[in-house]
Amino acid sequence: MKLKNIFSFFIFVTIIFGVSLTPKSSLNDVSGDDSYSGLRGVNLGNFLEAPNEGDWTNGLLIKEKHFQRIASAGFNLVRVPIRWNAHAMDITPYTIDSSFFDRVDWVIDQSFANNLSIIINIHHYNELMADPESHRGRFLELWQQISHHYQNYSHDLFFEVLNEPHDNLTNILWNQYLQDAIDIIRVTNPDRTLIVGPTNWNNVWTLSDLVLPQNDSNIVATFHFYSPFEFTHQGAEWVSGSNAWLGTNWTSSQAEKDGIDNEIDFAVNWAKTNNRSLFIGEFGAYQYGYMNGRIEWTAYVRAKAESIPEMWGWAYWEFCSGFGIMDSSLSYWYTGLLGSLLPDSPLIKRDYSTSSSLPVLESTPGSESSSISFTTTSESTNLEIMPILLLTSLITVFYKKKQEKSKELDTITSKKNEKNKPNENRINLH
Ligand code: BGC
Repeated sequence: MKLKNIFSFFIFVTIIFGVSLTPKSSLNDVSGDDSYSGLRGVNLGNFLEAPNEGDWTNGLLIKEKHFQRIASAGFNLVRVPIRWNAHAMDITPYTIDSSFFDRVDWVIDQSFANNLSIIINIHHYNELMADPESHRGRFLELWQQISHHYQNYSHDLFFEVLNEPHDNLTNILWNQYLQDAIDIIRVTNPDRTLIVGPTNWNNVWTLSDLVLPQNDSNIVATFHFYSPFEFTHQGAEWVSGSNAWLGTNWTSSQAEKDGIDNEIDFAVNWAKTNNRSLFIGEFGAYQYGYMNGRIEWTAYVRAKAESIPEMWGWAYWEFCSGFGIMDSSLSYWYTGLLGSLLPDSPLIKRDYSTSSSLPVLESTPGSESSSISFTTTSESTNLEIMPILLLTSLITVFYKKKQEKSKELDTITSKKNEKNKPNENRINLH
């Protein structure tokens, strides 16, 4: 059979496969869930929650292009953790630096300019966790100033009352403080959506200890998801003993998936009973895990979140540092991670649409091998992508043959082509 005939035959088989397999949606399926209409976000972490912006990012500051990149990928939300307490007077009236307010104003304006909703919070108020009674007044005064300052901003700005209450900020105290803070915020912001999470670092299981005001339905309950912690935090410099976990993988086994389902289903049951929407404000796996495991874990948690009717939104931790989906200089995406969060991202589609290159692969430290970024473990999905794979292989064979022929004719041209081969590991933006 001539090459042309083989080609036509494969095209035929591909079309037949393509039309006979309807897309299925299941929790394992990381393709976009069309029924999900909630927020899809990413944390701009390590910037404004450091003691000073730049302290944790080698001097890099938030720039316009951060928002442009986030929006261009297809996110519609950014969560910005903020250490207000490092920029306010220690004594009454606890005035927040006006230059710091200017900086946060700019961040909010940039979000809106890029059609991103934005969450701001109080993050890393460690002194409040250590000595709640002494810092209660200052904490509430910070909210008094923040809520007054932003009272006229669009409702696409959301307030999250406090990141990860823990240590001495016990359930009893936290339930009082959050009510006090909400009362203050509601004076100037009666209609703004608020976000509140439970103690023990916004742990799922402590949701049952969270008491939210019955008469305020515009409050979303948040939790953070990092289970199994030994996998997501292996090698994390701020978690003592975490070097011993290096090499822990997430293999998409049924037991591992059940573990995630059990934990998140606890939150879902709580939300149903308490008539609240849910927000997963942070989830992610640190850079030293195997990339394949990180991608599969992220895809699974994201798909699980989007299968939940009570889910208001999610925000991956975080954008361009150690958990990042992009490198810190914003030159390239870790496309596997990006695809696990946004399988329908226009950036990913753009790459698949070029016939000259295979899907972009990523590699980072700890990567066990390159992998097509957003294939899943489910058999159904493997079947669904079979026609694409067949077509891709055929086109590759076809072009290889063509190339070989021209190689014979012109070795110089072929060498030049080799030099110009795109870097398959990255989506380069520069
Ligand atoms: C903390 C970060 C940390 C992340 C994952 C966040 O809430 O603010 O410093 O990297 O959780 O542990």
